[in-house]
Amino acid sequence: MKQINNVLITGVAGFIGSNLLDYLLSKTDWKITGIDNYSTGTPRNIEAHRTNDRFTMIEGSIKNLESLKSYDCIFHLAALPRIQPSFEYVTEHINENLVNSMHLIELMIRENRYPKFVFSSSSAIYGTPSLIPTPESEKIDCLSPYAFQKYEVECYLRLLAERYPLNYVNLRYFNPYGPRSFNPENKFNAYSSVVGIFLHRYRNGQEPLVTGDGSQRRDFVHVYDLAKANYLAAIHPDRLNTAFNIGNGSTLSILELAEMISPDYQFIEKREGESEITFADVSKARRILNWAPEHELKDYIIQQLK
Ligand SMILES: NC(=O)c1ccc[n+]([C@@H]2O[C@H](COP(=O)([O-])OP(=O)(O)OC[C@H]3O[C@@H](n4cnc5c(N)ncnc54)[C@H](O)[C@@H]3O)[C@@H](O)[C@H]2O)c1
Repeated sequence: MKQINNVLITGVAGFIGSNLLDYLLSKTDWKITGIDNYSTGTPRNIEAHRTNDRFTMIEGSIKNLESLKSYDCIFHLAALPRIQPSFEYVTEHINENLVNSMHLIELMIRENRYPKFVFSSSSAIYGTPSLIPTPESEKIDCLSPYAFQKYEVECYLRLLAERYPLNYVNLRYFNPYGPRSFNPENKFNAYSSVVGIFLHRYRNGQEPLVTGDGSQRRDFVHVYDLAKANYLAAIHPDRLNTAFNIGNGSTLSILELAEMISPDYQFIEKREGESEITFADVSKARRILNWAPEHELKDYIIQQLK
């Protein structure tokens, strides 16, 4: 395995990117460059690391990156990551989620240099799956432009790897929660992770708003566990060129989640384009990446309600 010294995190000022930065600064001695245009993230998320001499920040869009030569691994998280806005601002989402990702992949090809490329994909590509828990072999059924764009990047990676020695891992995140999941300044924050929204409302004395009848079920995975999956994908010695589900391997209904936070929840209209259930079969990540989730949602909620 090539040694890792320098890595790039795209979308470093976002929810998952900033947690990945925390994780890598504490667990490795790598030099880390982050890039973010603050479209949905915020400089506050990375403020604590500004003076760390192992961290360099580039403020701007990944579409303007001209070289990836200095990196041994690229964690590609930058995206417009919300399902509902992707139905409305379709072209913007194609540009951010597909075209900008292709720009990074094309840079590697042009420079004929293939660092490990760890791509943040999504369980949204399974739609409402028929296999529960859902393995990576489940049929793909994209219910939204966002899901489709994530899947297109996966397809391009697979296709181009037949011609070029790409070295990638697709991590299909289920439903992440944890610190910084809700950014009040993000114009799409109404579509953030539901745990973050419910806790934000709780802190402001507002009841949870449950979409539909709340029977839809989600596999909630702590952002620390996602960061660890990124790390393990990066250090894996093999050219994996495959996808892994990263979820908790359990499932909870939105109504059950609301009840954990407040008995005074209210119902609002169901949203189209969202799955009825997410429930990850994580045996492949356990087996090949030696990854396992370490956190339980109920412990996080109890701690947050204190
Ligand atoms: N949070 C989830 O529910 C979830 C689930 C599955 C997959 N994912 C994926 O994980 C990744 C991170 O998601 P997140 O929840 O942290 O979202 P986020 O919105 O908090 O973070 C995304 C970051 O990317 C930045 N960004 C967007 N376009 C950019 C560009 N052109 N150049 C530079 N920076 C840019 C944003 O400013 C933001 O800081 C995304 O790729 C997302 O699709 C998220």
